[in-house]
Amino acid sequence: MNERETLKVNESGHLEIGGADCVDLAKQFGTPLYVFDEAYIRRMMRVYRDTIEKEYGGNGLVLYASKAFACEAMYRIADEEGIGADVVSGGELYTALKAGFPASKIYMHGNNKLDYELEEAISAGVRCIVADAVTEIDKIERIASEKGVVQDILLRINPGVEAHTHAYIQTAKTDSKFGFSVADGTAEKAAEYALSKAHVRLRGFHCHIGSQIFEKQSFVLAAEKCMDFAAKMKGKTGFVTEELNLGGGFGIWYTDEDRKIPPEGYAEYLEALLCAVAEKAEEKGLKRPYILVEPGRSIVGEAGITLYTVGAVKEIPGVRKYVAVDGGMFDNPRYALYQAKYTPVLAARANEEGTETVSVAGKCCESGDLVCADVRLPAAKPGDLLAVLSTGAYNYSMAMNYNRNLIPPCVLVREGKAAYIVRPQSYADLTRNDAVPEYLRKKDAKSGKE
Ligand code: LLP
Repeated sequence: MNERETLKVNESGHLEIGGADCVDLAKQFGTPLYVFDEAYIRRMMRVYRDTIEKEYGGNGLVLYASKAFACEAMYRIADEEGIGADVVSGGELYTALKAGFPASKIYMHGNNKLDYELEEAISAGVRCIVADAVTEIDKIERIASEKGVVQDILLRINPGVEAHTHAYIQTAKTDSKFGFSVADGTAEKAAEYALSKAHVRLRGFHCHIGSQIFEKQSFVLAAEKCMDFAAKMKGKTGFVTEELNLGGGFGIWYTDEDRKIPPEGYAEYLEALLCAVAEKAEEKGLKRPYILVEPGRSIVGEAGITLYTVGAVKEIPGVRKYVAVDGGMFDNPRYALYQAKYTPVLAARANEEGTETVSVAGKCCESGDLVCADVRLPAAKPGDLLAVLSTGAYNYSMAMNYNRNLIPPCVLVREGKAAYIVRPQSYADLTRNDAVPEYLRKKDAKSGKE
């Protein structure tokens, strides 16, 4: 595929994504609309895949962390690029399998996988389950023995590495619902427990230190601690760590406060990790483990934008100017959850400098429903097309129907042409699962059959 810049401003002063003019996209598909550049997604997948190939002799696999953005087309792209996927629920597993994604390249995560999710994963023959509780090891043992199979697992460990990011997204502190702590010995006990089971085969360990992290050193430190733990386990029990899964978490550009890393630049992060693992293996006399990494945000985040239409513009003199759009926290809850920052652009006047500071508000009945706060924009008026950048990850996947707003559709742009990968919701979708008990039914109501 042609590798062009994901975003550019064309001769008409319009924002383009993957060669498609945003003004045309809005005309064709309406707003709000999520738009993804296929070339960027593929390029990112290849950067990670090729780095493992070149720097580590291909002894590993990239798993797309599909929680960042899951739909059938995304699993198709990952499959075509020859990478694996991590899933964290029965729903993600179902979507992947429906898209024809090979179970042999699926890893299943989750701090509280439900019985039926484990059943589904084991029946499907997923490559590996990442166990996150002793009771879960028991459940896997039971289900696998009932099915007469042996299930490969990794153990999620918490190496206790602090990474600089928003507290809610941080997952390897001592106080975490994820993993078994290395420091207090529970990781060691859990590993010994897993080793005692007949239908569970412990392959190694997994850690994920958090998300939207730029410090290479945090990743390296976590990798080293995992290898130290592997050495300790080998010394104590003779267990050989065959696989090490180092999670995801590489940061992306949202605003100019973030580093802007070109796709190929992410190779450095992976190289640093692979190098740290290889060195530790040498130092401790360990076999070099098969390496897995699980990037999500960095694969799809900068590939996506959201297009909105400006509606009400309200100025509160001396306080703030609100530019309200036809979306909001129902398509992007990240400001409401994490005070996340974004860069908005008036897509039909993309060359114009920002002349005022405004807050982009959503249309939900909620004061905290902002898409971005205190951003610079040219004077926006009703009808203007507003693009918010870097919304490819954790936007659609976290969208909801609050206020019974419709979750926007997603289109994928390839060579300048867009096609739906998630079709628009309809009002009928909103009431599809509603049920009205007999005694509440209105005789002449449209929905009632009487
Ligand atoms: N592997 C595991 C086990 C994870 O928990 C995660 C993300 C990833 C991989 C992928 O991390 P990434 O490369 O995307 O940073 N909703 C939050 C992000 C939550 C991330 C959860 N785990 C947000 O909107 O920022």
